[in-house]
Amino acid sequence: MDMPAPDELGRVVIGNYSKAAGLPPVVFDHWLHRAMYTCRLCHVDLGFAMQAGGTGIRAADNMRGFYCGACHDGKRTYGGKTIFAACSDSAAGAGGGRCVRCHSRGRQAPREYRFNEFTKKLPGENGMIDWEKAEEEGLVSPSDYLEGVSIKRPKLRAPKDFSLEARCRWMPGIIFSHKKHAVWNGCEVCHPDIFPVKLGGAKFSMLDIVDGEYCGACHGKVAFPVAFCNKCHSK
Ligand code: HEC
Ligand code: HEC
Ligand code: HEC
Ligand code: HEC
Ligand code: HEC
Ligand code: HEC
Repeated sequence: MDMPAPDELGRVVIGNYSKAAGLPPVVFDHWLHRAMYTCRLCHVDLGFAMQAGGTGIRAADNMRGFYCGACHDGKRTYGGKTIFAACSDSAAGAGGGRCVRCHSRGRQAPREYRFNEFTKKLPGENGMIDWEKAEEEGLVSPSDYLEGVSIKRPKLRAPKDFSLEARCRWMPGIIFSHKKHAVWNGCEVCHPDIFPVKLGGAKFSMLDIVDGEYCGACHGKVAFPVAFCNKCHSK
């Protein structure tokens, strides 16, 4: 069970097409983007796969306003500031090294947001950011809506929290909060792809989680690592 460095948790390298086009692969950081937007917005409304490289993003998609280009279009703003544009047909005229801000694998790319500075005011433990607390305390309030892309819809009520047995005597049971998860994930990130809408419907073990399935589809990749046993086994 590896313990990633806090700034590396959720760092995704996207490199299906860049190299052949003579550019370094793209590096995407969850810690920056999840502070601004919900998981649901990107993984449901914008259709990003929950697997590194799984979406198969092309430069042409970005230029047409899909994927990264839904925000990185040189027009949309965040907090009053214009978001820099994604790909273009040529690197010529990409003043200020815009391409290398994303196509940055193995490069000393200029960065506007540095992990240590950005997360200085956020709560954490053992060097990991406690996003749950950060959200509760209003230090981050990720947006769940993107004008022109998302559809306004009524929020579904989250079912009550439930607990799961650990099927062994030496680990406490697990408490799962629907309400806390829905803040980030809505309902559709988990249902029906990761979990059936039925208590006891999924049969899985700790090994499956460590393998990146069920709870492990997020925990250990973007959400807190599996090594934090007590955060789940808290009953
Ligand atoms: C701004 C958009 C955005 C937000 C917000 C976002 N993601 Fe992602 N996520 C991505 C992209 C892009 C990828 C990589 C997809 C690809 O390479 O095709 C990704 C990949 C992933 C992966 C796969 C990682 C791997 O190593 O294979 C997981 C798991 C994931 N996201 C979970 C989450 C969770 C949980 C949240 C909320 C806490 C979240 N994402 C928020 C865009 C986002
Ligand atoms: C939902 C909107 C959204 C999506 C989708 C999105 N981003 Fe961003 N991204 C932002 C915003 C907002 C910023 C902050 C821009 C600023 O302040 O200049 C940002 C900043 C960045 C930065 C700058 C980091 C730095 O320190 O300078 C990189 C790199 C980046 N995004 C890469 C990507 C990549 C790659 C994708 C697609 C795989 C992507 N983003 C998809 C909204 C988004
Ligand atoms: C906001 C992030 C972002 C920026 C900025 C960006 N790109 Fe991309 N670009 C991507 C992503 C993501 C991919 C898919 C990477 C992969 O799979 O290798 C990509 C892929 C490409 C490809 C691969 C060929 C193809 O058919 O998809 C080319 C060429 C490309 N970009 C050109 C550029 C150029 C030129 C610039 C600067 C003007 C640029 N990009 C800036 C995100 C970005
Ligand atoms: C982080 C993942 C996740 C998210 C997000 C999520 N669920 Fe669930 N849901 C689960 C799990 C895990 C189960 C239990 C599945 C099992 O035992 O096999 C479940 C079970 C259920 C059940 C059946 C059990 C019960 O308590 O009635 C319903 C109904 C349900 N979810 C509705 C929702 C709704 C509505 C939302 C959005 C507000 C939502 N879920 C968001 C993971 C999630
Ligand atoms: C779709 C992604 C996803 C899945 C699947 C998922 N989680 Fe989470 N979970 C998150 C995110 C995001 C947070 C916020 C904290 C963070 O990112 O570290 C979180 C927070 C938590 C917390 C702390 C909040 C609290 O309730 O006090 C617990 C405990 C937890 N998850 C347990 C589970 C368990 C158990 C499962 C499987 C039944 C599960 N999670 C499945 C994304 C997910
Ligand atoms: C993200 C939440 C989460 C974390 C973190 C977590 N577990 Fe679990 N664990 C679960 C869930 C959910 C189950 C119950 C699976 C089921 O339905 O039987 C489980 C079951 C178990 C079981 C019962 C046997 C089995 O394989 O299912 C053991 C033992 C266990 N966990 C040990 C650990 C240890 C040790 C750690 C820390 C290194 C840990 N867990 C971290 C969620 C978690």
